[in-house]
Amino acid sequence: MSQFLSNCSVDALATAAQSLKEGSLVAFPTETVYGLGADATNAQAVARIYEVKGRPADHPLIVHIADLKYLDQWISDIPEYAIALAREFWPGPMTLILQRSELANNFITGGQNTVGIRIPDNLLALGLLEAFQNLGGAGIAAPSANRFGQVSPTTAEAVQEELGNYLSDTDLVLDGGPSVVGVESTIIDCTGELPRILRPGAVTIEMIEEVSGLKVSDSTDKKSDVFKQKDIRVSGSLENHYAPKAKVILDQQPVVGSGYIGLESISTPDGVIRLAAPESVEEYARVLYSALREGDHQNLEVIYIDQPTGDGLAIAIRDRLSRSAKGR
Ligand code: TXA
Ligand code: MG
Repeated sequence: MSQFLSNCSVDALATAAQSLKEGSLVAFPTETVYGLGADATNAQAVARIYEVKGRPADHPLIVHIADLKYLDQWISDIPEYAIALAREFWPGPMTLILQRSELANNFITGGQNTVGIRIPDNLLALGLLEAFQNLGGAGIAAPSANRFGQVSPTTAEAVQEELGNYLSDTDLVLDGGPSVVGVESTIIDCTGELPRILRPGAVTIEMIEEVSGLKVSDSTDKKSDVFKQKDIRVSGSLENHYAPKAKVILDQQPVVGSGYIGLESISTPDGVIRLAAPESVEEYARVLYSALREGDHQNLEVIYIDQPTGDGLAIAIRDRLSRSAKGR
């Protein structure tokens, strides 16, 4: 059983940074979802991430850093448009895929020539990263802190529920309250002439096009050829992912006794257990994963979900839900 730190003082962050330096795992909050962190230069520590998550070893990890000044050491090249995106959206819910440096080992990149980098927008995460970097750390590798294929945690309690049985005494879980965005970062491949979205998130196509001045392709669009390429290993892009134990059914009339998630403007269908009634698309993203977990806590067999329509963040929500609905 790991230690659970809810009082994250500067001292607690220094202790957590020291644990990372010694090769332990530290789960920490970010604005998107909670991450399971390890020293990104420590092969054994990173191997434990895969073990604890039950994740196949060839899936690459995102390296988290505290500031743009730590970016250069991880990469060998960066296009102008990626610099513009980094300046505009970091710290924030965006991961850039860039040509790696030698520091980004195969055990981080899954053997690819690229590395995913992100500066998260969460004070606790940034405090931890800063403390770790003050101890000489280069970056924290962190996937979402869930078992492979399951729903990402947006609270420290959900991390404990997912991974408590797999973490050891020297590992830590930092509690920073609920994640404010609620879905994972937008992943943008910046190795080509044009930015390409590999996973939609809160940094939207419109935002990327406006800042880069370029046309953005969305490889999560199933019609796109890019999506069919086998060399892009975005584990979150597997068809069955983000799945609760309950069966998820999208945009259909709910059966009595089932769970139900939909915007507040849709009145609760007769005889269902309402798990969430978000008032906006932003709130929808924020509460979605905890609502799916709540359905599992209530042992519901089926959760019916009316998806949000439109562009922007709604695209990310529908992306995750379409995978949840494929089941395990
Ligand atoms: O919001 C987030 O991104 C969260 C928080 C903790 O930062 N992290 C997260 O990590 O969602 P993870 O490992 O659950 O999902 C990251 C995705 C994976 O699907 C992985 O395959 C992809 O990023 N990825 C990482 N490095 C990559 C690379 N070099 N090329 C292509 N995909 C990459
Ligand atoms: Mg994940």
